[in-house]
Amino acid sequence: MGLNANDISESMYDIAEPRASAMIESLRAFGYNVQTAIADLIDNSISAGARNVWLSFCWDGANSYISIRDDGHGMTEAQLISAMRLGSQSPLEEREADDLGRFGLGLKTASFSQCRRLTVASRSENYAVAIRRWDLDYVNQVDEWRLLRLPAEGSIQKLNDLETMPCGTIVLWECLDRIVGEVKTNDQKAQDDFLETVEIIENHLAMVFHRFLEKRDRLKLWINQHSVKPWNPFLPDAQATQILPLEPLTFNGETVRVQPYVLPHHSKIDLDTYNNAAGLNGWNAQQGFYVYRNERLLVAGDWLSLGGYRKDEHCKLARIQVDLPNSMDSDWNIDIKKSRARPPASLKEALKRIARLTRHRATDIYRHRGKIIVLKNAEKYVFPWDKKLRRGKVFYAVNQEHPLVQEVLNLPNTCQPVIRALLRLLEETVPVQQIWIDNSTEPEKQPQPFDGTSSEQVLEVMVEIYRALRKSGMTQEQARSRILTMEPFQHFETLAKTLSDQLILGNLA
Ligand SMILES: Nc1ncnc2c1ncn2[C@@H]1O[C@H](COP(=O)(O)OP(=O)(O)O)[C@@H](O)[C@H]1O
Ligand SMILES: [Mg+2]
Repeated sequence: MGLNANDISESMYDIAEPRASAMIESLRAFGYNVQTAIADLIDNSISAGARNVWLSFCWDGANSYISIRDDGHGMTEAQLISAMRLGSQSPLEEREADDLGRFGLGLKTASFSQCRRLTVASRSENYAVAIRRWDLDYVNQVDEWRLLRLPAEGSIQKLNDLETMPCGTIVLWECLDRIVGEVKTNDQKAQDDFLETVEIIENHLAMVFHRFLEKRDRLKLWINQHSVKPWNPFLPDAQATQILPLEPLTFNGETVRVQPYVLPHHSKIDLDTYNNAAGLNGWNAQQGFYVYRNERLLVAGDWLSLGGYRKDEHCKLARIQVDLPNSMDSDWNIDIKKSRARPPASLKEALKRIARLTRHRATDIYRHRGKIIVLKNAEKYVFPWDKKLRRGKVFYAVNQEHPLVQEVLNLPNTCQPVIRALLRLLEETVPVQQIWIDNSTEPEKQPQPFDGTSSEQVLEVMVEIYRALRKSGMTQEQARSRILTMEPFQHFETLAKTLSDQLILGNLA
């Protein structure tokens, strides 16, 4: 139904090409930051079959530069010219299944977002090194997209490494006005900021490309000579990580794989592992879906506006891996920066259900410290505290059914008023707010029950419960196993097994 180009004669149109000088600033404003921009270049390297990508960050004040070199298949001169063109390939064209590119813009927009001079040198096997350069100041002056054939003065040695490689590509960013600006080389503060930026980039890449970095011989990333270690959001190797069932969802004849994880309660892993697993933005921010396209991470922890779910403290252990093929880009609304994805309407219900389930499971782990007690019979697990509702509000009451509390409440009548007054006062003043704040700001500082307490002291408490249970008519064996279903004595199995009438008598003696 569209126009037929043959029906339109020259008198019927004007050419209205975008003005180069006016386009520059909008092309620079795609919303990349330095780490997402560099990740986009590494996508290109991976698509070009690179096994190694070397990043160099060189500090030299206003002359600082960044280079990204890969050992991929490289480009011939003609391919390089086409690659440097804005919109080198239409997003509507079908891509190789393992291609990480999309809009034919990344190389240019990602680079322009950070620097004013982009030089690319590339070498395809059996070809000479080809070089092209975009210099935004020059484009601005001449108001034409003139792609320069020579590197800037003094840049050539930064591209030298390619000479010794059979094939590969170097992307060189100079005039880093967005990262460094007009500063002197001896500006210590600016240099520190630059180094900090390098660290941010490293952490980001460790996350975005972790699945590539984890596989042997798949991809190595080097930053100023040291290799980047992968950061896996799911702690799959930690024993206490719960891996829920994988759910394959079908969409337009293709499969989206959804793999929910519930990470371990902090008491189940060591402090370093716990702190490291928090990730770039901390535990709370890193919960939710992790959307991967061809194993490259696009979205790192987001509930994707499903079901009105928010990032709640008690759900922070929930992380769900979602794997998309690159043929679903437009259905998932993948943006140019590859940092956004929105599920298609027909998958929302299923994803919401999985989110609900995982959040639920994560909340259990968060609240009960991940204890999974296998009860042999229908006996209830006994906590000293009860959560109750009073006029629609939550409050915490001492569990009056607890054997030890029962024992106290069975003391002679004369003692009752003071005991009841004490219990009531404690219940009314549970420092919920303070506990919540402490636990969420420094969870690792919240001890386990009887943490660092001697066995004797734990036993003192156990003995009183044992005594109460025996009094209520239980056998020695029953009393011992009952204690093991009481918070927190399930963690003191060996100690509980030493309980006996004999021991109590010994204690009394
Ligand atoms: N490091 C590289 N090695 C080989 N070819 C590259 C490299 N970077 C870019 N290219 C080529 O340039 C093209 C344009 O890249 P880009 O602007 O990032 O768009 P896209 O990745 O969406 O295709 C790529 O499709 C690829 O053919
Ligand atoms: Mg690209």
